[in-house]
Amino acid sequence: MLDKVRDLHQEIEHYTINSPEQLEQFRMRFISRKGVITELFEGLKIVPQADRRAVGQELNGLKNFAQERFETFTQQIDEQRTAADSAPPVDLTLPTIPNLTGTQHPLSLVRQRIIQIFERIGFNVADGPEIESDWYNFGALNFPENHPARDMQDTFFVAKVENGAPADMLLRTHTSNVQIRLMERQKPPIRSIMPGRVYRNETISARAHCMFHQVEGIYIDRNVGFKDLKDTLYHFVKEMFEPGTQIRFRPSYFPFTEPSAEIDISCQICGGKGCNICKHSGWVEIAGSGMVDPQVIANCGIDPEEYTGFAFGMGIERITQLKYVVNDLRLYTENDVRFLQQFEGL
Ligand code: PHE
Repeated sequence: MLDKVRDLHQEIEHYTINSPEQLEQFRMRFISRKGVITELFEGLKIVPQADRRAVGQELNGLKNFAQERFETFTQQIDEQRTAADSAPPVDLTLPTIPNLTGTQHPLSLVRQRIIQIFERIGFNVADGPEIESDWYNFGALNFPENHPARDMQDTFFVAKVENGAPADMLLRTHTSNVQIRLMERQKPPIRSIMPGRVYRNETISARAHCMFHQVEGIYIDRNVGFKDLKDTLYHFVKEMFEPGTQIRFRPSYFPFTEPSAEIDISCQICGGKGCNICKHSGWVEIAGSGMVDPQVIANCGIDPEEYTGFAFGMGIERITQLKYVVNDLRLYTENDVRFLQQFEGL
């Protein structure tokens, strides 16, 4: 009997409750007239007279303990209930807390779109170094030494320490270096685009940056003509920009292409009516292009009598500006989330 009393005491001591249902279970088991404690009191009758008093005392102690715990539990459940009642009601019309997800940088979005368009018509993607020798950035591309054409691109030279010799290494000013490396390595047909970072020594402003991105393309094969260049770029403009966008080829000069043309499209911002983006001309330049000069093809060990080709190059920042109306180049590198978030889900 005493063992039973001790077991029950322990059980009550370790009992926890969290709900009104559990409180009721406790009451049924220990407090009610059908509970275990009442049952033990009934058993008292058969306890030998000599022990009855001591066992009775133990039993009374157990009963009081159970009652005490029951009261504490009741109070606890009451407190829970009032706390729940006084909590403000849930307002289901409130907007949810936004689930912030990462976004693709606009320049990555546009670069990927450009790659996608050209990959579908059979161009693959090539890559090359950003720190380059004078030969790959200029020499092989027909920029003669001391020729003013080199001034078209303000170059960052990487100083050469040996014997104070003039710097021969530089940060590439265009991705055309990859064209040369490709032609050196690969036999025609070559049909590749090369997206990448380029550097020019410009003061950073809304319209210029010392680091930006280009995608150049090259196609070298037998019988590649100017018509192929035009077709390819018409296709690109049609895929990339708004329906109805106009395109024009304007004669130009690059040392490594002959003939050369710059490509303009009707301004995406004003639809060709004239605004400050297109300097009120209705046209914006998006790319340089031309037929690869036979001398450049020969510089790479390919026979220019047998093979011809075209090349083009465009700035990713410029295309992005036109597509998403970004009017300050500095926004691309500032990493301001308010700017970047606008491209979420694109
Ligand atoms: N490399 C030229 C530039 O950066 C662009 C270009 C590429 C022009 C290919 C013609 C052909 O300005």
